[in-house]
Amino acid sequence: MKSNAKWFYNETVQVGTDYQDISNVHEYDMKMAKFRDVTREATDIIEAISLRREHSLLEIGTGTGNFSIEAAKHCNKVYAIDVSSAMITYAKQKAQKMGISNVSFLQAGFLSYEHNGYPLDMIVSNFALHHLPDFWKMIALKRIYQLLKNGGTFYIGDIVFSFPIEEYDYKIDNWIDTMKQNVGIDFAKEAEMHIKEEYSTFDWVIEEMLHKSGFIFDILHKDDFTAVYYCKKN
Ligand SMILES: C[S@@+](CC[C@H](N)C(=O)[O-])C[C@H]1O[C@@H](n2cnc3c(N)ncnc32)[C@H](O)[C@@H]1O
Repeated sequence: MKSNAKWFYNETVQVGTDYQDISNVHEYDMKMAKFRDVTREATDIIEAISLRREHSLLEIGTGTGNFSIEAAKHCNKVYAIDVSSAMITYAKQKAQKMGISNVSFLQAGFLSYEHNGYPLDMIVSNFALHHLPDFWKMIALKRIYQLLKNGGTFYIGDIVFSFPIEEYDYKIDNWIDTMKQNVGIDFAKEAEMHIKEEYSTFDWVIEEMLHKSGFIFDILHKDDFTAVYYCKKN
C-alpha cells in the first residue's frame, strides 16, 4: 500500500468531534457510560462472535477501550487501535487500573495499521468506519479482509442510513429530536454534527462494499440510523 503517497488520506485528522482533545475523551467516556450499557454491549458482541480463550482479536477505533477491555477477559490477546493518541492513552490507563494485561493499545487506524502479532481470528469495529469517506471505507474493508485468518470474523456496527431517501429531512429532524428528548441536548448536537460533517452512508453502499471486499455477511441489526453486520472471510 502506497500510504506515503501525497494523495493518501490522512486519517489522523479528526472529523466531527475532536477525539484528540483530552477533555472530549473524558466527556465521551462519561456520556457513553450514562447512555449505553457498555459492559452489556461488549458481552453481547463477545457472545455473537463466539470469542474463545485461544483467539486473538483486533478492535479498530477502540475509543475509551470498553469493548477491548471486556474482550481481553475472554481471549488470548487483544490489539486495540485508534487514530487518537488521547483515546489510546486514556484506554491504556483504564486497562491498567483494571489489571488487564493482554491488550496492546496502539495509535493506528483503518488505513495505517500494520499487524505484527498473532494471526487475527476476529476484528471488531463500532461507530468508527463513518470517519472515512466512502472510497477510503472500501480500502479499509479490503485491508480488514486481508488482516483476518481464513474463516475469520469481522463484526461491524455503525451509523448507517436505511431510511427512504425521499424522507431524509423528516427522518433526520426526527432522529435529532428523539435524541434531545431521550438523552439530552449534547447528544442532539453531536447527532447534528454527525449528519453535517461525518461520512455515514447508505446501507446498500456498505453492504456492496462488504460483498466486494470478499465477505459473506449476515445483518444482525438494522434500523433507520444504525446497522450491525456479522461478516466471515470466505
Ligand atoms: C464514536 S467513537 C467510537 C469509540 C468506540 N468504538 C465506542 O463504541 O464507543 C469513534 C472513534 O474512532 C476513532 N477513529 C476515527 N477515525 C479513525 C480511523 N481512521 N481509524 C481508527 N479509528 C478512528 C476516533 O478517534 C474515535 O475514538
